[in-house]
Amino acid sequence: MSRPKVFVARRIPNVGLDRIAAAAEVDVWPDRLPPPAAVLRERVAGCDGLVSLLTDRVDAGLLDAAPQLRVVSNFAVGFNNVDVPACSARGVCVGNTPGVLTDATADIAVTLLLAAARRLGECATDAREGRWVTWEPLGWLGQDLIGRTLGIVGMGRIGAATARRLHHGWGMKILYTARSPKDDAERELGAHRVDFDTLLAESDFVSVHADLNPTTNRLFGADEFRKMKRTAVFVNTSRGPLVDQAALAGALRNGTIFAAGLDVTDPEPLPPEHELFHLPNCVIAPHVASATVGTRDAMARLCAENLLAGLRGDPLPHWVNPDVAGRQRPR
Ligand code: GLV
Repeated sequence: MSRPKVFVARRIPNVGLDRIAAAAEVDVWPDRLPPPAAVLRERVAGCDGLVSLLTDRVDAGLLDAAPQLRVVSNFAVGFNNVDVPACSARGVCVGNTPGVLTDATADIAVTLLLAAARRLGECATDAREGRWVTWEPLGWLGQDLIGRTLGIVGMGRIGAATARRLHHGWGMKILYTARSPKDDAERELGAHRVDFDTLLAESDFVSVHADLNPTTNRLFGADEFRKMKRTAVFVNTSRGPLVDQAALAGALRNGTIFAAGLDVTDPEPLPPEHELFHLPNCVIAPHVASATVGTRDAMARLCAENLLAGLRGDPLPHWVNPDVAGRQRPR
């Protein structure tokens, strides 16, 4: 039997690429930028497998152009770029990479929280640009962390890892919202599940870890920022569209909240002229939460395992649509 054909939509670490290449005929998109949609469709057309990134839209049109496709292995934990029902309807398996990026992402959430609370972006820029004229008793005053209250929106793996760092490290009290109670977080961290409005009103820091779906789209708008404390710090490491950015910019500009730290925006990249980049109380990272050597290697390994399992017709180690079991598209 001929080797299966796989399109890999960007260079990923060799630990994953080499595994895929050992079992399949691989076409790797070599550019830094993603393949345009029409090119992606063309390149996937004759393929059995696809390694996609969060920048690659996998929709019904692409699936219809690829009648042999059996598995989409997304190199990310989030899979809002993939139309999962459309994949399931065609017997196409979808995999993702949860777990391995939990610690790296929680580390970035804490980094952004600290940077925003202590005005690091603003004061480092001021220092570099000559506005550090002396030691000032009233200069660059930020927010304390010890013993304050952290509100986690979405207490999944990453939300819990962020809460753990801030509870054990800074003695923070933890509030959270989630679809169901999280017994482990309640036991280990004394976390309290509260309604969304209570979380907004009582938290000194609000960190977002919910996935993007129709119910979380624009979850944070002007009303939500108004319900937060004027000293609150807002952190988002999930997906940009959860936030109405015009409302966030207004809240930061008017002092409705104290500061924000973002690893995700809408769109990505955010144009350099966007107001959020010009507000001194907003720290923005270019979606780097999982960007450590070890984490990206682990993602590549898992992504390859998902892909190869899907090509063999086996269950995927991390299977987004296990409902496809027993009716996977045959070779
Ligand atoms: C990154 O945002 C991911 O979903 O892995």
